[in-house]
Amino acid sequence: MSIIIIKTVKEMHALSDSLRMQGKTIGFVPTMGFLHEGHAALIQKAASENDIVIVSVFVNPLQFSATEDYGIYPKNFEGDCAIIEQSHGNILFYPTKDEMYPANFSTSISIGNITNTFEGFFRPGHFEGVATVVAKLLLSTKPHHAYFGQKDYQQTLVIQRLIQDLHIDCSMHIVPTVREDDGLAKSSRNVYLQKEEREQSTIIFKALLNAKNAFLQGERNRLILNTYMHETLSALPQFDIQYASCAEAETLHEPDIFEEKSKVVFLIAGYLGKTRLIDNMVS
Ligand code: PAJ
Repeated sequence: MSIIIIKTVKEMHALSDSLRMQGKTIGFVPTMGFLHEGHAALIQKAASENDIVIVSVFVNPLQFSATEDYGIYPKNFEGDCAIIEQSHGNILFYPTKDEMYPANFSTSISIGNITNTFEGFFRPGHFEGVATVVAKLLLSTKPHHAYFGQKDYQQTLVIQRLIQDLHIDCSMHIVPTVREDDGLAKSSRNVYLQKEEREQSTIIFKALLNAKNAFLQGERNRLILNTYMHETLSALPQFDIQYASCAEAETLHEPDIFEEKSKVVFLIAGYLGKTRLIDNMVS
């Protein structure tokens, strides 16, 4: 069965209303396209838990800064449709930029605290763009359940806040990061990596693992845990580190010493050549 492609918000509303009237549960997976196995895992999970799965493909200009890769973000419409279909998605919501942001559009959603550090610090305005587009996509597709990847850890916290704070009637689900065999987290941006960089990139996974193992063996000093990541990464001076830090998993607070039973997230971001890579691991 082939997928249905919807390009306007009006048609999306009508279809979701009708599905809800028929008593169908709707699962939703928002994406920026150039889909890979990571996205496929989200779609499969949504398909296993809902009657109908809507996937959106929209490269959201609001979440890119002027110096980032909005203009060259990779695209593959045919490939995306094939992955959605193979992963048992049913509907592709594929709006244009003008459909999402007509000329008089001026609203922005700001989440506050949790967006000031890590990604939010290095990408000012990014999470306002993410929160605004995700709110619009949720209001357009009216899902019962929405699926996000752990790969973008801070994004999951931001969306959780958005859904709770705005009373959006949708439950959020987080799907574990899908990795290449050597540990690199799958990402649409991995295609930018030169062959040598692709081989070098596994150091990020190793650094996360080292710090996580130290934590599991009892280390609770945050700066020492950060040093484990930095020391591992120092073997690859070409990797331009933006952050390699750990924090409390639920709040992203950074205490000097973690409590014995804390759940901790280890987060790394930086540039390998021209490619920005991010990854994380939870204790
Ligand atoms: P995008 O980078 O296309 O990712 C879409 C979803 O797929 C996100 O929830 C992301 O965390 C998840 N994902 C990406 N790589 C993954 C991997 N290796 N394993 C598991 N999940 C993975 O994230 C965005 O788009 C945008 O910010 C969006 C939420 C669509 C708003 O524009």
